[in-house]
Amino acid sequence: MYDETVTILDNRKVNAEYYKLSFRSKRLAKNVLPGQFLQMKIEEGYDPFLRRPFSYYRTVGDRVEILYEILGMGTKLLTEKGKGGTLKVLGPLGRGFSRHVERKKRILVGGGVGVPPLVFLAERYDCYQFLIGTKSRKEILPSSEIKKFAKTVRYTTEDGSFGKKGLVTNLLEDLLKKEKGNPQDYFIQTCGPNRMMERVMEIADHHGIEGEASWDETMACGVGVCLGCMVLTRKGWTASCKEGPVFRFDEMEKGH
Ligand SMILES: Cc1cc2nc3c(=O)[nH]c(=O)nc-3n(C[C@H](O)[C@H](O)[C@H](O)COP(=O)(O)OP(=O)(O)OC[C@H]3O[C@@H](n4cnc5c(N)ncnc54)[C@H](O)[C@@H]3O)c2cc1C
Ligand code: FES
Repeated sequence: MYDETVTILDNRKVNAEYYKLSFRSKRLAKNVLPGQFLQMKIEEGYDPFLRRPFSYYRTVGDRVEILYEILGMGTKLLTEKGKGGTLKVLGPLGRGFSRHVERKKRILVGGGVGVPPLVFLAERYDCYQFLIGTKSRKEILPSSEIKKFAKTVRYTTEDGSFGKKGLVTNLLEDLLKKEKGNPQDYFIQTCGPNRMMERVMEIADHHGIEGEASWDETMACGVGVCLGCMVLTRKGWTASCKEGPVFRFDEMEKGH
């Protein structure tokens, strides 16, 4: 884990909702697993005081990219940072997704800002189907951002403005109904709103398919000290930032 002051290379809008920020750091880019995250101190002073967590979206050599949307004050201030600005960044943190899934077909299910770590996974490793759900076409990533795995991607939007109308979990159900393989032939990896991931786990359970979910709980320290990000696993309450954020489906307690 490294704590560095990095200089911003670029910070710009990629669509109506998301921004992409990049900086260079050999150490923060090295040996990173998709699903791991960074803690970013956006302003030097006390407001906002705490660092904010962001998933790794992509690393290219020693260049690190994150993809983010405005949620509150910290992310709003982040959009105002330009090339040459500095940030304090701690990482890589947490446990990421499994890279190798024993010749199983990898199905990725992403919603909202849960999509960035799955893009990292799909670009680096094999991907059978990548199901992405958003509210509307405003959050759809430009084709230049998904070109390495574009053939695997299928979209749902809640308002029907792009792809199939409805929820991404409906798309997952439809896909699994049509598939002819055994449950052991598939492995699901998911990141997005908690309700979406809970439904993904129910569907996976119904079909007997294994998988992993990234529980991106609100975090403060990011290193297992403040106990602000606890999730209920079969081993009891666990710090998501340290033991996760990625957990296997069978590690989680039902209704956590
Ligand atoms: C491991 C991890 C990875 C993440 N990766 C990304 C990413 O790649 N891109 C991205 O845009 N965002 C990501 N997030 C969410 C990001 O950390 C928040 O958007 C950010 O901290 C908000 O800061 P803020 O100061 O703008 O808003 P705040 O003022 O801190 O929060 C605004 C509101 O959102 C709520 N909130 C804050 N964080 C979360 C959360 N994680 N889940 C649910 N509600 C929350 C707060 O309680 C508050 O009500 C990730 C979070 C985690 C834990
Ligand atoms: S954020 Fe502090 S223990 Fe996880």
